[in-house]
Amino acid sequence: MASAIRTDTPDSVVGSRNELRARQMRIAEITEMIHVASLIHDDVLDAADTRRGMDSLNSAVGNKLAALAGDFLLFRAFSAAGSLENTEVVSLLATALNNLVTGELMQMTVTPAQRCSMDYYLQKTYYKTAALISNSCKAVAVLSGQTAEVAGLAYQYGRHLGIVTAPVLFAMEEFPELRGSVEHGFNDPSDVATALEYLAKSQGIERTRLLATEHAKLAARAIDALPEVGNKVALVSRQALKDLAQKLIRRTK
Ligand code: FPP
Ligand code: MG
Ligand code: MG
Repeated sequence: MASAIRTDTPDSVVGSRNELRARQMRIAEITEMIHVASLIHDDVLDAADTRRGMDSLNSAVGNKLAALAGDFLLFRAFSAAGSLENTEVVSLLATALNNLVTGELMQMTVTPAQRCSMDYYLQKTYYKTAALISNSCKAVAVLSGQTAEVAGLAYQYGRHLGIVTAPVLFAMEEFPELRGSVEHGFNDPSDVATALEYLAKSQGIERTRLLATEHAKLAARAIDALPEVGNKVALVSRQALKDLAQKLIRRTK
């Protein structure tokens, strides 16, 4: 994103490009630290044994140390954010963190009726997965002193990239028989097999793919709406961001 919004202004006007790039990279590092901290805490909450094919931290060192390791990463992330000396950037990253916790709370406190609501599901998904990407993309634009319009487009790109959808909720519209399993959060293992059976008969997967395609298009539209630019780095980076959105639709895991 930093490269995609790079302007054609000569270096002497925008100050040292390298210095700006180092500060924008700091945002990427902070974002990754918040992401990892949230997964460490998530694995404690979910009592998960593995993460990305390896032992989860909690299974290796126990819940207490894992929770503290997550806290430590968060502290380091926000110390680094503070050192950027830009209150709007710190505020955007704090919003992302606030949203992560809110998404997790929405998941934990969901009622049977809310489990069946696509609006609730998408809002929770935005908080849990899209908010970190969207606010970080925006922070990169804000840090480089871009206009509110460019910062808004960077945010929109991240938002559309981060949203995923729920095939089972679509399938439930065709097969109301699924409602009971959804309401109870698939707490009975046999519910999963039944849901998969109905899912295969339904348009759920196809509709999910269509919705994801729509989000990828909107992500690309945000990139296309960025102010015109002549430099090659920006143009190549814009194409790479659009390719990334396309790639997410096709990925299989
Ligand atoms: C993975 O979800 C979890 C998240 C994307 C966010 C978790 C957020 C918190 C635990 C709130 C606290 C966060 C911080 C930074 C203090 P999942 O369990 O549905 O998916 P997965 O385990 O299969 O990846
Ligand atoms: Mg989990
Ligand atoms: Mg979880």
